[in-house]
Amino acid sequence: MTTPTVQAYPTVAALIAAAANTTIQEIRRVVEARGRCTIALSGGETPRALYAAWASQADRLPWSKTVWCFGDERWVPPDHSDSNYRMVDETLFSRVSMPGSAIIAVPTGAADPAASAAGYEAALRARFPGDAWPAFDVALMGLGPDGHTASLFPGDPALDEHRAWVSATRAGRPVPDRITLTIPVFRHARWMMMLVAGAAKAEAVAQTLHGPRDPRRWPAQSVTPIEGPCLWFLDREAGSRLGLAA
Ligand code: 6PG
Repeated sequence: MTTPTVQAYPTVAALIAAAANTTIQEIRRVVEARGRCTIALSGGETPRALYAAWASQADRLPWSKTVWCFGDERWVPPDHSDSNYRMVDETLFSRVSMPGSAIIAVPTGAADPAASAAGYEAALRARFPGDAWPAFDVALMGLGPDGHTASLFPGDPALDEHRAWVSATRAGRPVPDRITLTIPVFRHARWMMMLVAGAAKAEAVAQTLHGPRDPRRWPAQSVTPIEGPCLWFLDREAGSRLGLAA
């Protein structure tokens, strides 16, 4: 497992500008090196501004050579206000010209969350045929105040899933039923950015990065890639308990 690197920025605007530039550079580097870049997107609120920044710098991204997947999804229709797909569509997909086939979304219309998880896993296995684990070129992650990441929540049975690529999980809010990539999938990512902002996350950041190793309580301790870089991008508030000069 690689050692996370931490970068703190004085404001959210500075954080997003740096995250946009860093991710765009990595996506371009991957496409140059390997011809295609497959990205796992995080949901929630923090990445909205990053996706909007990507849309506003659309000319810098190789849209015909990128594949956009989801690190997790809420088990709601794609037009539901809590849908991660809807959030990314509003902030990014609808604002750029890209092939529809470039998006691999979680099929939340299945009969139940487990069926949606199986359907998403099948779609990912078609994207990564024959691979033991999918190697996402870029994994964008977030962190909840309780220490969850993607939809891997403290104490959830999905934390023990080490064979499936995708699992159904249960959360508190805003949507109880979730679909998430599993820990081994994130650990096989080639490059990861953990994008975190706000004072509410400061304790989870400090515990995850500097606290005792307790991945059932702090699941984000488990997702660090085995080999790929893991970049924690924080604003001053989220990093306030790390003693960083921001
Ligand atoms: C989700 C996300 C989740 C998110 C954290 C932080 O579906 O909600 O994937 O893991 O990254 O909950 O969310 P905020 O950015 O909204 O604080």
